[in-house]
Amino acid sequence: MDKIKVCVAGATGWVGRSLIPAIHNSGDMSLVGAVSRSSGGKSVETVLGIKGLSVEIKPTVKNALEQRTDVLVDYTSPDSVKSNVLTAIRKGVNVVVGTSGLTDVDYEKIDREASEQEVGVIAAGNFAISAALLLHFSELAAKYMPSWEIIDFASSKKIDAPSGMTRELAFRLSKVRRPESEIPVDSVKGIKEARGANINHTQVHSIRLPGTVIGAEVLFGKPDEKLSIRYDAGTSAMPYIEGTLLAVRRVREIKGLRRGLDTILDL
Ligand SMILES: NC(=O)c1ccc[n+]([C@@H]2O[C@H](COP(=O)([O-])OP(=O)(O)OC[C@H]3O[C@@H](n4cnc5c(N)ncnc54)[C@H](OP(=O)(O)O)[C@@H]3O)[C@@H](O)[C@H]2O)c1
Repeated sequence: MDKIKVCVAGATGWVGRSLIPAIHNSGDMSLVGAVSRSSGGKSVETVLGIKGLSVEIKPTVKNALEQRTDVLVDYTSPDSVKSNVLTAIRKGVNVVVGTSGLTDVDYEKIDREASEQEVGVIAAGNFAISAALLLHFSELAAKYMPSWEIIDFASSKKIDAPSGMTRELAFRLSKVRRPESEIPVDSVKGIKEARGANINHTQVHSIRLPGTVIGAEVLFGKPDEKLSIRYDAGTSAMPYIEGTLLAVRRVREIKGLRRGLDTILDL
């Protein structure tokens, strides 16, 4: 069977540096493209020190996709992800999106264009298995617990808020029901911002602190009882790699957009 031809945008980043050797060693995938603005023109072998990987890094996704590619994986930045994804879709290339910052409106456009072009897109705010389980268990809990809020954790260096995972959580919970609230935020006396941001009807509180890694906690409330479901990342990028590779293997079977790693797991 032919190997899946993969291009990684964000090849030199924190995730990209772990993802590229994993693709190279996977047995069923081959790296055919890599993107980074500052390393454009150099080889992956030189920049990442992976012997025998002579793929030339390109400065843009458009340049990299001149090479025949089955799947683009994007781990770049909130500023570039939308145009990278649309560039790939318009070239008939399937996409796995790890980068955060896309809004629900962006995802609607991506879904429409991917469906028209008959290509697949799998996007997950967090490709770790435990984060996918948080999403799944939270959806189950929302069926029985009428009120909830989300605390979104990340390091002080994270530029976007809330995280992609928290946006995804709020979006998915909104499909279960609208959380009940005794006092609407508009009726709050004092400083309304203290109640957080309203994302798909869920109040979200983003914490950005040194010493904190990515995480999310969904607090569910019901009279006289409380449930909390929490995920905390460790410090390496490895948990995201397994889920990303799974998405690369599955994305060619899909037409249009799937949001959340749990949508391709057997749960
Ligand atoms: N879904 C998940 O599971 C998951 C997990 C971890 C992180 N993330 C998200 O993934 C994204 C990347 O994270 P990271 O920590 O790997 O970031 P990072 O270390 O800052 O790396 C970003 C990479 O993207 C490249 N890049 C940035 N802007 C670009 C542009 N406009 N065009 C082309 N390449 C560009 C950078 O190289 P140059 O600067 O040389 O261009 C670098 O290679 C973030 O949004 C992060 O929140 C998601």
